[in-house]
Amino acid sequence: TSVPILTIDGPSGTGKGTLMQLLAERLGWHALDSGALYRVLGLAASRQGLDLDDPEALTPLAAALPVEFQAGRVLLSGEDVSDAIRTEDAGMAASRVAAHPGVRSALLDWQRRFARTPGLVADGRDMGTVVFPQAPLKIFLDASPEIRAERRYKQLKEKGLDANLPQLVADIRERDARDRSRPVAPLCPAEDAVLVDSTQMSIAEVLDRVLEEVRRVF
Ligand code: C5P
Repeated sequence: TSVPILTIDGPSGTGKGTLMQLLAERLGWHALDSGALYRVLGLAASRQGLDLDDPEALTPLAAALPVEFQAGRVLLSGEDVSDAIRTEDAGMAASRVAAHPGVRSALLDWQRRFARTPGLVADGRDMGTVVFPQAPLKIFLDASPEIRAERRYKQLKEKGLDANLPQLVADIRERDARDRSRPVAPLCPAEDAVLVDSTQMSIAEVLDRVLEEVRRVF
């Protein structure tokens, strides 16, 4: 069971998702976008009218969540929700449902099943600390809230979605505060994580930096 695992944790808007995809392509490894899982759960719960702050209602849903990742698309009960889960509201809902310990443990096995040969790149908040603590290479990717809001703004605009920069900065701060302060699996670097600050780096530079570590470790 010594499948090579590379974890990428950090707050939203640091480029984790893009980095994970590039690395998975380059290495030919599987990819796990764990944030998408919490986003789908938030979406499913909202649609069912569940209280996002009520673990009693959410944990059973998490345990039986009809989610599939297929060829880069995310399916909920067979419906393609890849775009629906990318809105700011869905991010906020994800962060609320993700705060419950019961919900998180219900999703553990599902995530761990992604660790298959030839290897896995996993992106999220607690990949290196909780889900794959044995991973030989852990990256913690950070950047200033302002630059992260700017990147998210451009992403949303490119997709033709509505975006408001001051609102994005406020949302990012709120979501960060909740992710960092929650009692279970708070957002923080693993003790053995390599810290990378992407504030002043392009995605190509971040990729080179991480590939250096990949060559060193695997
Ligand atoms: O990474 P992404 O922005 O898609 O994550 C959405 C939310 O899901 C985060 O704000 C966080 O609260 C939650 N999350 C988490 N643990 C993960 C991945 C995401 O709690 N491993």
